[in-house]
Amino acid sequence: MHLLEQLRDDALRDIESARDEQALESVRVKFLGRNGGISMWGEQMKTLAKEEKPIVGKLLNEARNAVTAALEARAEKFRSQKEGEALANIDISLPGTPHEIGSLHPLTQMLDRAIAIFRRMGFAVADGPDIETEWHCFDALNTPPDHPARNEQDTFYLPDGRLLRTHTSTVQIRTMESAPPPIRVIAPGAAYRRDEVDATHSAQFHQIEGLYVDENVSVADLKGAIEFFMRELFGADTAVRFRPHYFPFTEPSFEIDVKSKALKGGEQWIEVCGSGIVHPAVFEQVNKARGDDAYDPDKWTGYAFGLGMDRLAMILFDIPDIRFFAQNDLRFLKQFA
Ligand code: DAH
Repeated sequence: MHLLEQLRDDALRDIESARDEQALESVRVKFLGRNGGISMWGEQMKTLAKEEKPIVGKLLNEARNAVTAALEARAEKFRSQKEGEALANIDISLPGTPHEIGSLHPLTQMLDRAIAIFRRMGFAVADGPDIETEWHCFDALNTPPDHPARNEQDTFYLPDGRLLRTHTSTVQIRTMESAPPPIRVIAPGAAYRRDEVDATHSAQFHQIEGLYVDENVSVADLKGAIEFFMRELFGADTAVRFRPHYFPFTEPSFEIDVKSKALKGGEQWIEVCGSGIVHPAVFEQVNKARGDDAYDPDKWTGYAFGLGMDRLAMILFDIPDIRFFAQNDLRFLKQFA
């Protein structure tokens, strides 16, 4: 047996009897370290006769590979032993911590459905701030300072005179300020009022505003759009009724009621929406703010509407109290998961 083979067998035996990682490391140093037994043979290669070199070189490689592999295998054994010991201390019969998977809030589900329908009708989604100027909320919407809606009790005012918007109609103005006609947008969002809170009134509620400005827009266009929307939402047998009403920023104005067998209380008319033909005075205010005549009331006409989304969600999902939306009670929310 060649000396190298002897060395190899010694190393393999030492590896086998190493009791821990530290012992294993000293075996590695002893044979493969810089001054290790096997490494020294590498050094001596230079001094060998030419015919001996390939023979010893081969033996050296074999020894090095065998010892390296054995070291690695033994180290792996120590590692898995350690892991096994760590796992042995874990009580796998203990119940785990469940991770609750969330779901969309019923109002969000309602908004998503409504937005999807309007998108199919070519409406883009517009946005505006909840904290508004009085001008965007009232003046621009042809609502004069002596109008009851401007009563301090109607909404929440900030010390600097700004307010929490009482409706999403503010986004009509913001959209027209920033882009010329034609316009076809919806604006979903929150609105605020200082209402007495009860089953149907909340200080914060949600609307989808709609605005369509083009040439020759009529009440027929408004009716077509709203009827299509309501039938998509509540089913083909849904009836829609327009009742004359008053809003400062539309003329004529309507309140819109729906009736559908699909809804609880089937044969009852339910008011869901305010609407009308955009008042020329609104276009004039926008022109003044823009400093141009982009919304020439002789050229452009439009319809607008404001849908009460809490109301729609309540009738669609049969929810008896608007306060449930904001109470974060999982027993309520999980019914819509
Ligand atoms: N802004 C009104 C409200 O909150 C609803 C409304 C009525 C919106 C008529 C409109 C409209 O766009 O044309 O009561």
